[in-house]
Amino acid sequence: MDAYADDIEKVLITAEEIQAKLAEMGEQITRDYEGRKLLLVGVLKGAFVVMADLSRSIRLPLEFDFMAISSYGAATKTSGVVRILKDLEHDLKDRDVLVVEDIVDSGLTLKYLLKNLAGRKPASLEVAALLRKVGIQQVELDLRYVGFDIPNEFVVGYGLDFAERYRNLPYIGTLKPAAYGS
Ligand code: IMP
Ligand code: MG
Repeated sequence: MDAYADDIEKVLITAEEIQAKLAEMGEQITRDYEGRKLLLVGVLKGAFVVMADLSRSIRLPLEFDFMAISSYGAATKTSGVVRILKDLEHDLKDRDVLVVEDIVDSGLTLKYLLKNLAGRKPASLEVAALLRKVGIQQVELDLRYVGFDIPNEFVVGYGLDFAERYRNLPYIGTLKPAAYGS
């Protein structure tokens, strides 16, 4: 059974809802980039689950690359401090690049990342994010594909962690207060 079920306060988005939404997003991306090939850039670690499922509903020639940046550490508040821990292996010049994100919270992480990637002169640069927290983006961001807008609560599951746990939950949920201490 679900090893983390006792820690979850409520399920915000079910596994079925996530899968249906990613299928829709994949179809849209397939239409928008018809006749082109795409480089998916995943932001580790959170995006690896979204990337795996989203990519399988994109019917285009795809290449994958990953970047690791840190903004949070184990805490649950954005620090605004972003560091590149692992850079891309691909040259982005003249490539169609789609950045895949798990969640856009303050937007600070993504803003930093997009500025950095734009400097490498891709042919196009867009973002697909599974989740966006509403009303709290500190920076203007143009997100081409967004799965769900969610309230400003800390969530886990489907790639998202608290202190490196809960990434393997197939749904998105909030934690019981007691789970933050365990
Ligand atoms: P931002 O810079 O505030 O947009 O934060 C972006 C990163 O913080 C995300 O890619 C996540 O790794 C992490 N993050 C933001 N909100 C949450 C959350 O509710 N749960 C888990 N991680 C989060
Ligand atoms: Mg995290």
